[in-house]
Amino acid sequence: MNIPWTLKYRPRTLSEVIGNEDAKKKILEWIRQWERKPPKKRALLLYGPPGTGKTVTVEALANDLNMELVQSNASDYRTAEAIQRFAGRSSRYGTLFGKRRLILFDELGGITGSADRGGLREITKIVKETGSPIILIANDAYNPRFSTLRKSCQLVEFKKPTKTQIRRLLAKICSLEGIEAEPDALKLIAERARGDVRSAINDLQALAQGRKRLTFEDVAWLSSRDRKEVIFNILRRILYAGNVSGALRAVNEADVDLDMLLEWIYENLPYHIKDPGELASAMDMLSLADVYRGRIAATQDWRLMRYYIDFMSAGVATSWSRKAHGWTPFRFPSRIMSMSKSKAERGRLRAIGLMIGRRCHISADRAAKDVIPFLRVIMQNNPEMGMGIARWLGLDDEMIAYLKSGG
Ligand SMILES: Nc1ncnc2c1ncn2[C@@H]1O[C@H](COP(=O)(O)OP(=O)(O)O)[C@@H](O)[C@H]1O
Ligand SMILES: [Mg+2]
Repeated sequence: MNIPWTLKYRPRTLSEVIGNEDAKKKILEWIRQWERKPPKKRALLLYGPPGTGKTVTVEALANDLNMELVQSNASDYRTAEAIQRFAGRSSRYGTLFGKRRLILFDELGGITGSADRGGLREITKIVKETGSPIILIANDAYNPRFSTLRKSCQLVEFKKPTKTQIRRLLAKICSLEGIEAEPDALKLIAERARGDVRSAINDLQALAQGRKRLTFEDVAWLSSRDRKEVIFNILRRILYAGNVSGALRAVNEADVDLDMLLEWIYENLPYHIKDPGELASAMDMLSLADVYRGRIAATQDWRLMRYYIDFMSAGVATSWSRKAHGWTPFRFPSRIMSMSKSKAERGRLRAIGLMIGRRCHISADRAAKDVIPFLRVIMQNNPEMGMGIARWLGLDDEMIAYLKSGG
């Protein structure tokens, strides 16, 4: 079963929400005031960057305080009537079973179009009269559209958790999933997320799900040219293209390495196309693309490029019914992962080989083949002697660690 880890590991209680201690404190203080009487500001407006925990904080709060959460998001408030239906009544009356109510308007930024004004006016009205606490969420509270509403709300800012906080959360998830992850690997994922916890967790799942180990090399290429969001987006546009031209456009507008793209499509097809017959035809298309790739490489006849592109995009898109089966994460191609790993490894061997070659007057290749295996054995069995040789060769700490580890 594919369940997003953001869902599986979302905080159930406030203490599991990382960072944002100030915000949590303010929210708790405000909600406690309600126990006596409605505070002057009957609504909170939570704002801040996406993926920082605004929504889950409200859910955890309701859970902690055993409140009934009446929750809605942008699609529920297209019109003032819809909003009245959703929140008007629940804000006026208590619940049947004595549970207190907490009303959440999530994703206020999603109220758009002609409904916009009426909708926001209706929410403002409800906020002024409500008998139950209301929490509103928007990424950008200072959007002029919210200026009237904002006056009736107490503002609470959400900030990006730190890299360390995110890294710790990733480590916790890994241990729960039984994955042994190198600290540097998690550090890089946390760094790349730039404070967006949701995207950090999604990256971790794409990279690590189903694996026993996650190494730095496995994630190192996250920082490579073809950023993953870009690729995910293109993949989706290709696989689920409604027609031939849509799929072609996705490739043509994309500034990515085509051979890399082929790997991505190849790796991801089986997870999206469940029907074996359809999968076979899609794979056929990919193999045709691959034939053209070979021909282009052999003949340098770049006119064949369009066939290469056509088969991998439009060919694939039209060979299946394009029905999504629930939520399917895109995966990083394992072939590229292992390629980048062996590339890093080759680079390291070569660097050591060069150092040895300089001292022993042999080629780096020959040193890698003939000397390094012995050096490894020496390092592991007689570290003192090994260190002496390493110093004589001028190897640095990283190279020494590599030799000691047995590669
Ligand atoms: N501060 C946080 N602590 C723990 N998990 C978080 C945090 N922020 C985001 N997440 C994770 O990311 C997912 C999305 O969070 P969400 O609250 O919807 O973000 P926002 O509403 O700020 O865009 C959550 O399900 C959770 O897994
Ligand atoms: Mg949210």
